[in-house]
Amino acid sequence: MTEDPVLPAPREATDEAAREPLLVVEGLTKHFPVKGGFPVRRTVGQVQAVDGIDLTVHVGESFGLVGESGCGKSTTGRLITRLIEPTAGTITYRGRDIGHASRKQLAPIRSEIQMIFQDPYSSLNPRQTVGKIVSGPMEINGIEPDGGREKRVRELLEIVGLNPEHYNRFPHEFSGGQRQRIGVARALALEPKLIVADEPVSALDVSIQAQVVNLLQKVQRELGIAFLFIAHDLAVVRHFSQRVAVMYLGKVIEVGDRDSIYTRPRHPYTHALLSAVPEVNVTDEDTGGRERIRLAGDVPSPINPPSGCRFRTRCWKARDRCAAEEPPLVQLSGNHDGHLTACHFPEDPTTAREEDIVLDPALAALEGESK
Ligand SMILES: Nc1ncnc2c1ncn2[C@@H]1O[C@H](COP(=O)(O)OP(=O)(O)OP(=O)(O)O)[C@@H](O)[C@H]1O
Ligand code: SF4
Ligand SMILES: [Mg+2]
Repeated sequence: MTEDPVLPAPREATDEAAREPLLVVEGLTKHFPVKGGFPVRRTVGQVQAVDGIDLTVHVGESFGLVGESGCGKSTTGRLITRLIEPTAGTITYRGRDIGHASRKQLAPIRSEIQMIFQDPYSSLNPRQTVGKIVSGPMEINGIEPDGGREKRVRELLEIVGLNPEHYNRFPHEFSGGQRQRIGVARALALEPKLIVADEPVSALDVSIQAQVVNLLQKVQRELGIAFLFIAHDLAVVRHFSQRVAVMYLGKVIEVGDRDSIYTRPRHPYTHALLSAVPEVNVTDEDTGGRERIRLAGDVPSPINPPSGCRFRTRCWKARDRCAAEEPPLVQLSGNHDGHLTACHFPEDPTTAREEDIVLDPALAALEGESK
């Protein structure tokens, strides 16, 4: 992609800015009631979708949130963007508690936190032109940029690599990757400081994924926008995020700097995610000696999660203590600052080089593009 004349001067995060917390989540919890019974329906249980998580996203940083289906990633994203109400916990954005703010109090903050959705097909109104879609957030918020909304929309289309002349076209006239670019342009319309991107490339053809990830990376770096990048596998966020948190059944079980997580995973689940590569023809040599682990069994129900460590029903290292005591999320000896792990019997730090971790071939192509 060529350099874009309409991009504002880079707001590259300085070291100092990068240490400044933008979003701090503490004890964040969301339980959905489960209704049952006849003739009177009553609450018979709770889906513990998110159960007491702590996260910090710094200014301009890309933070990856990873875990298997159903572990609570989207619920976390929806809580942070305040699409749903938390059951408990705090969400502090730029020093202000937004977890329990009213609609009115939220209004000025809403524009600063935007969301990009997984499905570029259903997240765009098919009856609206691209111009209308991208200018929608400006209209709702009564924002009139210098030179008018249309000019700004054309600039935004150019930033995301679309032809500004396609202003009057409809979503069905675009490919999946192009539609996701429209979603990115819409998210950028209000100059956000934080974008929650919920699996933004998983609905796209593998060949297109790299292009959209590269666009998001460009936006993050050049506009200094922080990202909470949600993905179900570690490969995509590895490419994109400086820090990564791994979720399992509503809990964060490991968090740390990208390199620390990828080269020295201490939680058995992270280790398993890193070694769970569906592709064949991978020998031990290819994995740099990293032990190959296959995760057995399904994720248990979040309505009735296992006692103690929630991973224990699938963990090959589980012992009695794991059922009795929930492991706290702490920094283990030998780990880097900020690398926290919740496990009673953690893995030894491995020394496998980053390159040794096997990605699927499509993502390897993506890696190639970024170099
Ligand atoms: N509105 C809701 N009412 C009841 N349960 C819900 C609701 N939304 C989500 N859940 C449940 O909460 C749990 C976490 O869901 P969530 O969508 O956050 O997971 P996820 O990690 O995003 O999964 P995926 O990778 O499939 O998108 C799941 O068990 C889901 O069924
Ligand atoms: S606490 Fe026990 S069950 Fe949980 S991951 Fe560690 S070893 Fe496995
Ligand atoms: Mg989801």
